[in-house]
Amino acid sequence: MLAGKKILLGITGSIAAYKAIMIVRLIVKAGAEVKVIMTPAAKDFVSALTLSTLSNNKVLINLADEDTWANHVMLGRWADVMLIAPLSCNTLAKMSTGMCDNLVLAAYLSATCPVVVAPAMDEDMWKHTSIQNNIRKLELAGNTVIKVGKGALASGLYGEGRMAEPEEIITLIEELFFRLTTFKGRKAMVTAGPTYEQIDPVRFVGNHSSGKMGYAIAEELYMRGAEVTLVSGPTSLTPKFSGINVKKVQSAAEMYTACISIFPEMDIAVMAAAVADYTIADISTEKIKKNENFLDIHLTKTKDILKNLGELKNDRQFLVGFALETTNEKENALQKLKSKNADLIVLNSLKDVEAGFGKVTNKVTIFDKDENEFSYEAKSKLLVAKDIVELIHKKYSW
Ligand code: CTP
Repeated sequence: MLAGKKILLGITGSIAAYKAIMIVRLIVKAGAEVKVIMTPAAKDFVSALTLSTLSNNKVLINLADEDTWANHVMLGRWADVMLIAPLSCNTLAKMSTGMCDNLVLAAYLSATCPVVVAPAMDEDMWKHTSIQNNIRKLELAGNTVIKVGKGALASGLYGEGRMAEPEEIITLIEELFFRLTTFKGRKAMVTAGPTYEQIDPVRFVGNHSSGKMGYAIAEELYMRGAEVTLVSGPTSLTPKFSGINVKKVQSAAEMYTACISIFPEMDIAVMAAAVADYTIADISTEKIKKNENFLDIHLTKTKDILKNLGELKNDRQFLVGFALETTNEKENALQKLKSKNADLIVLNSLKDVEAGFGKVTNKVTIFDKDENEFSYEAKSKLLVAKDIVELIHKKYSW
């Protein structure tokens, strides 16, 4: 959602200034425009040439150069967000008292847009009462202070005070300032990932689902304004945005219970999880020993979550299912759409080399209740999520 936005990046004198190069790269890659301004001290840590080349804009350092004046007022008005990263102890102190002896401070004091700062200091400095008081003053003035991280510090010590990573900073800016309002006031539930059906205390039956598709849909709905609850089976993923509410489950039964309990409050439910169709009839409380050549495990059918939600669904709720097929794809998908009372069904074909478990790309065809067919090219799961959410937006009449 950063595309087309304007970010004013202020860099101050700190070893962490090298990370500002990556911040500029990420902003440009996201399709946003970035203008860089630096304090004179920052020049010792990172080159203006690198930053101007990457940002495609002249880097400004001085308030005035001979006969030209850097229009700090207009810089602050131009930007949608001003980011100061890294924020040094010295600039923090000056910001908190309203000092104005360089361009970064002048732009900060005249900025009409939100201001975000990412401090970077050594732990002892960071914990000093004066610094903490100044941070509080900055927050009280309405600025957003990004939490420092813990790790290796420039002093060689290990502790708190590291500037947040560039990806975290950009994600936070997106989340705080650039969420759309398409689904504002709507609640959405998304299921994702596999389920693990326990055999004994150390073994389970699972599947290859990575959860990427479901997580991407949850993130897209969230960035388009919905309040999102992600019911996730076991995956290594964490949602990109901290505002997404996550309910972690293991088994199909746990996923069923979680979904049934929250579905009544939901406006939209997208069932992207690869839920086990069968579970273990008798879970062994002890580890099963390999005494025999063959081991029989009895499986029993799980509850179909989507089908149950389809039965509970009222007129103001919109339900999206997935269908993973290897044969008679369209026919099976349409049959699932009807039998489970979904509003849309997203068909993935396992025959498609670009689709399926663990891949970063997917190729889907979506059917609605009137059997209209919407076909899409193979693309990244992030872009597929955008297509699915866009179709939900078109089909769901509020
Ligand atoms: N699903 C579910 N609960 C289950 C099994 C599946 O909610 N116990 C949901 C999936 O999340 C998906 C849809 O049903 O949205 C279709 O899943 P799929 O595995 O394609 O089909 P099944 O209904 O399991 O049927 P089959 O395995 O026979 O194709």
